[in-house]
Amino acid sequence: MNIVRLNNVGMNYVTGDGVKNINFELEQGEFLFLVGPSGAGKSTVLKLIYFEEMPFVGEVEVGQISSKSHKRSEIAYLRRQLGIVFQDFRLLEDRNVFENIAFVLRVTGMRRQDIKKRVLRVLTDVGISHKRYKMPHELSGGEQQRVAIARAIANEPLVLLADEPTGNLDPDTADEIMQLLEVINTRGTAVIMATHNYNLVKKHNHRVVRIEEGITRA
Ligand SMILES: Nc1ncnc2c1ncn2[C@@H]1O[C@H](COP(=O)(O)OP(=O)(O)OP(=O)(O)O)[C@@H](O)[C@H]1O
Ligand SMILES: [Mg+2]
Repeated sequence: MNIVRLNNVGMNYVTGDGVKNINFELEQGEFLFLVGPSGAGKSTVLKLIYFEEMPFVGEVEVGQISSKSHKRSEIAYLRRQLGIVFQDFRLLEDRNVFENIAFVLRVTGMRRQDIKKRVLRVLTDVGISHKRYKMPHELSGGEQQRVAIARAIANEPLVLLADEPTGNLDPDTADEIMQLLEVINTRGTAVIMATHNYNLVKKHNHRVVRIEEGITRA
């Protein structure tokens, strides 16, 4: 079953750039690389899947929700089914590791005790529970990305969107983060990872969707 589908999607920013014609789908549990040169439209595609940008033409479908017919209230629900990580981690700098993750669970109305258990579990999953009382600036880049990944999987998303997640990391740390994403995928979470690191793509045997100048190439 497809959980993400983009059908002839075009979208322009006010400047005129954006994407022209994007076509691909993601199966439940699949790991997909989104590749292409800088400016090709990889980040824009992830924003479209997150409903942060809306297509001008075509259709984006995520689960049961379509860009053509969604209600406002469905967007919040949709985003809870997606986890997202970025190249620059984007942690809350004034909160410790534990709070960075507890924060996203509180807005779902989860009970205090359950939040505590869930935070400890995801921090253990990413191998960093011993640093739970550290502030982000006390962590290395790789550790910060582990926290960001823990936060992204805390709501048990159907799909994890990763925008150049290894872009700020040295090659060994990048490999570790890739291994972590593989483990998360093996446990059933679908992953879409945008990258222009072809070495990483070559090392991992996953389907590749290539974008050039806003168009998906076969
Ligand atoms: N916020 C924005 N406002 C205006 N134009 C934008 C914006 N974000 C991206 N663009 C333009 O849209 C096009 C696609 O950009 P996008 O960021 O999706 O590329 P990318 O493939 O992620 O590139 P990179 O590998 O450098 O991250 C580019 O021409 C870019 O200049
Ligand atoms: Mg990008």
